[in-house]
Amino acid sequence: MCGIVGYIGTKKASDILVDGLKKLEYRGYDSAGIAVLDKDILVYKQPGKVINLEQSIDDKVDGITTGIAHTRWATHGEPTQENAHPHKSNNGEIVIVHNGIIENYKFLKDELIDHGFSFLGQTDTEVLVNYIQFVQDKEKLNIEDAVKKALQNVNGAYAIAVLDKKEPNKMVVTRKGSPLAIGLTETNDEFYVASDAIPIIEYTQSLVYLNDDEIVVLERGKKMKVTDIYGVEKSYKVKNLDLNLDKVSKGDYEHYMLKEIFEQPSTIKNTLFSHLNTENSDIHFENLDELKEKLVKAKRIIIVSCGTSWHAGIVGEYIIEELARIPVEVEYASEFRYRNPIITKDDIVMAISQSGETADTLAALRYSKAQGATTFCICNVFNSSMARECDFTAYTYAGAEIGVASTKAFTAQVAVVSLLAIQLGLERNEISQEKANALVKEIKTIPSVVNQIFATDDHIKTVAKNYTETTSFLFLGRGINFPIALEGALKLKEISYIHAEGYPAAEMKHGPIAMIEESLPTVIIATNNEYYDKLVSNAQEVKARKGPIVAVVNDDDNEMIDTADYVFKVPRVSDMLQPIVSVIPLQLFSYHVAVLKGCNVDQPRNLAKSVTVE
Ligand code: F6R
Repeated sequence: MCGIVGYIGTKKASDILVDGLKKLEYRGYDSAGIAVLDKDILVYKQPGKVINLEQSIDDKVDGITTGIAHTRWATHGEPTQENAHPHKSNNGEIVIVHNGIIENYKFLKDELIDHGFSFLGQTDTEVLVNYIQFVQDKEKLNIEDAVKKALQNVNGAYAIAVLDKKEPNKMVVTRKGSPLAIGLTETNDEFYVASDAIPIIEYTQSLVYLNDDEIVVLERGKKMKVTDIYGVEKSYKVKNLDLNLDKVSKGDYEHYMLKEIFEQPSTIKNTLFSHLNTENSDIHFENLDELKEKLVKAKRIIIVSCGTSWHAGIVGEYIIEELARIPVEVEYASEFRYRNPIITKDDIVMAISQSGETADTLAALRYSKAQGATTFCICNVFNSSMARECDFTAYTYAGAEIGVASTKAFTAQVAVVSLLAIQLGLERNEISQEKANALVKEIKTIPSVVNQIFATDDHIKTVAKNYTETTSFLFLGRGINFPIALEGALKLKEISYIHAEGYPAAEMKHGPIAMIEESLPTVIIATNNEYYDKLVSNAQEVKARKGPIVAVVNDDDNEMIDTADYVFKVPRVSDMLQPIVSVIPLQLFSYHVAVLKGCNVDQPRNLAKSVTVE
């Protein structure tokens, strides 16, 4: 959700900045801009993609080795050139990039207008940079102290990088609520700044992740010093990453999303085998020991998450309740945090998040922690804010997910939650060792089961061709396949802009059935479980009203296949493990419909990866 990049060092800054923005573009692509600082500040910014920006940069940037950059997901103000970052202050001397939202910007803006400031656009960021100038002028401060002082009066979330023409050898960087990493070099003559590690790892693998309210001044040749916004010195840890850039490129695939769908056999396998002892298939979660007893004895698990991760949470609810018999509640993080929820110290609050940065989920975790709950997260990004703040983190090993629509992170989340449920079931004597062994044995086959589904990709694409003109879809599922109906609908709507709703199949008669007609296809997830006959009846109800049906069925299906117009076959596995399998054809279906419609599947309109604003 907005990406920022910064560089101060010895190389041509604009190249590093533009390259970094391309790698962060999945965070927002409404506009992009850079500012480089030598004797003067040069700003280049364009609405739309980074490529537009790149084409607008001229040779005046040659030889300039300091700069900041931004790719925007619009909050305040439309995605125009005026609203694109970086923003300069009225006196033209300070320039800023910002990820987040300044909540009291209206109040600050009114105060600035009273003091004669004017504004070119509508953004909260333009208010912030002018407020820094206002404080600097008023109190005659250097840029570092002006930023600190200004932020003491600012409410909201931010990650910012600031340059001041009067101090060209410095960059001031700080965060609160929005992520920010700093890349260090041994000689301290270069520093890299970015919203996540991906733009930095090509240059250095030594990263410092700033905590909220920490501020640093980056100065060529000087060791980085961290303080809080009141000037109190803070210690920091340097993380030495071992990330490979190849893994974050598209390779031979046309889109990241397709690559990520096809990576799932290996991402599920990596995730499973990171938590399974290869010798005896025992499940182990690193560093869980201290918390294990609390988890095993938990009276309740509350899962908080958003979007696709929320769907993984619902799958988790079914599996944990079934195998471990612990009551589970699944909450939209955004609702949970604001409704004065009842949380006790016997509760485990579990966040599920690909990015580990989603603002609502992070806030729900912090709230729960403050109420005394034990916090736990299932997360895909090492050292993300959630991973750092939770009592315990179980990582998914899906690798960087760049496509905005989540695919491989979802199946990895479901894999972790399944292992956790098996382990808890065993420890709580709710399932036998034999049952646990059988489930572990089966879960190890899931990567190859997923691989088999890819052989049907051409068929899925052929079916997709029938639906490029369709305007609305209904997705139905029962039991553990209900969240897969939700996920199928979300995938389709977010990348193809076709309206789609997911429902528990039995709920259809309580309202959605009124919509059924020839032009409204229904996708029914009808794998062979105890609800199968009921789903066949639901399908008949749809057919009786001339509704077309696409069904996800098991290979050995013999009834639904006669009712549905098209079927996507998936191998039959235990019901508990079926969601991770049933979701695959729906991911491919959405992908093909969107590509056939000419949509940008990796960067769907209005969306951004990692939603760090509320
Ligand atoms: C949908 C999608 C989003 C995310 C949601 C939560 O494809 O990607 O719905 O799942 O924004 O993000 P994380 O998992 O990073 O907390």
